[in-house]
Amino acid sequence: MVPAPAARRMAAPRQRLALGLLCMLLAASAAAGEGGHGVPRSAKRAAVASAVAGSGAGNRTAAAPATVGKRDEHAQGRKRAAAGPAAGRKRDDAGKPRRRGDRAPAPAPGGAVAPLGNTTTPAGSKLWLPALPLKTWGRYIVDQRGQRVKLRCVAWSGGQDVWMVPGGLHRQKLWKIASMITWGGFNCVRLHFSVEMVVRSVKGSAWVQQKAVAANPELYNKGPLEVLDAVIKALSDVGLMVIIDNHTSDAMWCCSGFDYNGLWYTDKWSEADWLHAWDVIARRYAWTPAVIGVGLRNEPRPTIVGGAARSPMWGAGGPGLDLALALEKAGGAVLSHRQSYLVFASGITAARDLIAARLRPLVLRAGWPHGAHVNNQLVYEAHEYFMWYGPLANAMQYEPFKLAMDASWGWVVLTNTAPVWLGEFGVQPWDVHGGWWQSMKRYIKERDLDWSYWLLDGDQGPSRNMNARDDLGLLNHSWDGWEHPEMIEELKQI
Ligand SMILES: *[C@@H]1O[C@H](CO)[C@@H](O)[C@H](O)[C@H]1NC(C)=O
Ligand SMILES: *[C@@H]1O[C@H](CO)[C@@H](O)[C@H](O)[C@H]1NC(C)=O
Ligand SMILES: *[C@@H]1O[C@H](CO)[C@@H](O)[C@H](O)[C@H]1NC(C)=O
Ligand SMILES: *[C@@H]1O[C@H](CO)[C@@H](O)[C@H](O)[C@H]1NC(C)=O
Repeated sequence: MVPAPAARRMAAPRQRLALGLLCMLLAASAAAGEGGHGVPRSAKRAAVASAVAGSGAGNRTAAAPATVGKRDEHAQGRKRAAAGPAAGRKRDDAGKPRRRGDRAPAPAPGGAVAPLGNTTTPAGSKLWLPALPLKTWGRYIVDQRGQRVKLRCVAWSGGQDVWMVPGGLHRQKLWKIASMITWGGFNCVRLHFSVEMVVRSVKGSAWVQQKAVAANPELYNKGPLEVLDAVIKALSDVGLMVIIDNHTSDAMWCCSGFDYNGLWYTDKWSEADWLHAWDVIARRYAWTPAVIGVGLRNEPRPTIVGGAARSPMWGAGGPGLDLALALEKAGGAVLSHRQSYLVFASGITAARDLIAARLRPLVLRAGWPHGAHVNNQLVYEAHEYFMWYGPLANAMQYEPFKLAMDASWGWVVLTNTAPVWLGEFGVQPWDVHGGWWQSMKRYIKERDLDWSYWLLDGDQGPSRNMNARDDLGLLNHSWDGWEHPEMIEELKQI
């Protein structure tokens, strides 16, 4: 889930400035220096790591979690700096694979699904769901009939947080929130969970507090996984697809360089716990077609484990640091339960960098390491935020932005290797006329990307401030209307 836009946002202006300058410096040195595709990755990694380590302290209001998950002692989020990706080669030969016959000529805006109308029934038919399950075809996600399905998702946060259930259920009926999502023109939802939620839920040591689902009495006295079941059912009933995302290990709001959750294991939750959690989730939803895929791990990034700083690497570093290897293991665990899950895999540097995947692409199997190869289910995931550019964001120019995105991960679609799902991106509604959003929007259109906006929620959730909205949240504070309808209109354009 997300990055901690809030934590980032809350950083003092001075810190943001420093961050912005850092980004600029890194981008400039990458572009001016080696340039092109020759930027030594190790150098880049080191730069990124030091940028992360050196960035200003962010802030999290109300860091102390309530009842469950007291382990949030490492309260202070850190603002994550992210290097502007190195400028790289430019390729515009995106060659859209258009096979005659089995593919819809031009997918309508909104893809094969999204009901954009004003449906009023809480439990609609499943008419809008494409022919599931989905698979990949070159750089596209397609359904069983070979029709392109463009994912236009929104993140519904909360399952990873200390209440262990998606947000808003204390304020609004589940069906109402699900309906809002379809009215917003989305066709799928990114739902989050923590390893802690799954592991404790299975052991029966985690309970959903009544106040967390106060507006939905039928959910009282359920475990977190049962609430997740109910949420997924409600979403699929209105024709929405679901992608389950492993956001954190600890149940908390995340993602900084100092929240101890940057890798796929932590001091408290081992890699085995992670794999176990995927095992549980993948088995549980193996017969729920609306669960189209899994996000194996959110924003892998430098972190601290066992008292030492560690940075995930792609295809290097051995079992404790090699993210590519870990993703293949978890992908294997998931696919052993159902080979038709889409598997979403994020790169290093908080899902901004897939450069090394060019030389070391992921290979998925149904069961790691010896299961049969599973082709056509891998989707790479990337994240991109307004806040990462500090005060320079609104001055962003399209050409350099495009070059940077293409070099980092856009190459995946340009070379027709696999689809890329922009799994998180977000902007404050009052910055939609600025350079970053205009560039982002144009890039998504030009590259025809699948995406997921961050985020739906009408408040900041239990580990931050329930009485305040998140600037990026689309719903208003009572979770039954749009806070900034113009933002919904922006999203309907892509
Ligand atoms: C974090 O924010 C709180 C409340 O806004 C403030 O009191 C505190 O000093 C801040 N801490 C840092 C490290 O900025
Ligand atoms: C709902 O949609 C129908 C047609 O699709 C339209 O006639 C009607 O005015 C709409 N109602 C509202 C409240 O937008
Ligand atoms: C989720 O990710 C965390 C790391 O952020 C990891 O520790 C945990 O095991 C993962 N859980 C699952 C079920 O993937
Ligand atoms: C949210 O929007 C709905 C629908 O427009 C409205 O009825 C409600 O009062 C709004 N809530 C808040 C807190 O603004």
